[in-house]
Amino acid sequence: MRHMLNPLDFSVEEIDRLLSLASDIEHNLPKYAHVCDGKKLATLFYEPSTRTRLSFESAMLSLGGSVLGFSSADSSSAAKGESVSDTIRTISCYADIAAMRHPKEGSALVASQASSIPVINAGDGGHQHPTQTLTDLMTIRSLNGKLNNMTIGLCGDLKFGRTVHSLINAMVRYPDIRFVLIAPDELRIPSYIREDVLKANKVEFKEVNNLDEAMPELDILYMTRVQKERFFNEEDYIRLKDCYILDKKKMKLARENMYVLHPLPRVNEISTEVDSDPRAAYFKQVQYGVYVRMALIMTLLEVEKPC
Ligand code: CP
Repeated sequence: MRHMLNPLDFSVEEIDRLLSLASDIEHNLPKYAHVCDGKKLATLFYEPSTRTRLSFESAMLSLGGSVLGFSSADSSSAAKGESVSDTIRTISCYADIAAMRHPKEGSALVASQASSIPVINAGDGGHQHPTQTLTDLMTIRSLNGKLNNMTIGLCGDLKFGRTVHSLINAMVRYPDIRFVLIAPDELRIPSYIREDVLKANKVEFKEVNNLDEAMPELDILYMTRVQKERFFNEEDYIRLKDCYILDKKKMKLARENMYVLHPLPRVNEISTEVDSDPRAAYFKQVQYGVYVRMALIMTLLEVEKPC
């Protein structure tokens, strides 16, 4: 039995196979309509979500399976003090696979250790969000036709943004990737990512404050929201929340073939005037999120690809 707790749980070859399966699903959706008949997915969401929870549910329904779960800690027995371990042991009696989001870093790992069904980390605090990364990889591969030799700008809250941490972890395994890390000093990338991931893998990167100056050299610009829910101090959040706003004027500084990604939800960091720019790829990204989650469910449940 396998889990998906971190993008590194799958080798580069396994991720390539999963992305190819997701792409086949995209182009042959009806073929997959019954591959998970009789299977159940539990969605255990202790934190708010729109895309991750609903795309998992949509994915399982599109595969012919069914879904059950809760969308907040308050509506589960966590509110009575039940541990994650006891919850997942219980859910293992009800479902074949579980996707869990929790505010505490490491909670998905704890769940996997008590589980008798595959556990998917749907976001654990400021740590990792591997299925967003699969979504991002599929989006980049579909738009650029490759996952190597490019300059990726990551902009905004690089301290708390778990999607950024997971994406860096995954992308350093591909050749000739360069990162431009664009953040205010208070929201710079955590030192464990800088030292243990970027430097340890000898990946070229630079840390800058200025988005305008970085724009012309980027192949991908990955914008992120300032993570209000992870700040201890509201004053700091208010001071930093609008530190970068991507608008039409800034897009003029970018290459014609630079794509803008964002895991969403956005607040102010991308002006809605950018949405009509052909380089704005964040709603395509949302759609790809369903296909990769379908592919992941099939892979973890060891469901055969239909002919
Ligand atoms: N990208 C993402 O995780 O969105 P949600 O918080 O809406 O699930």
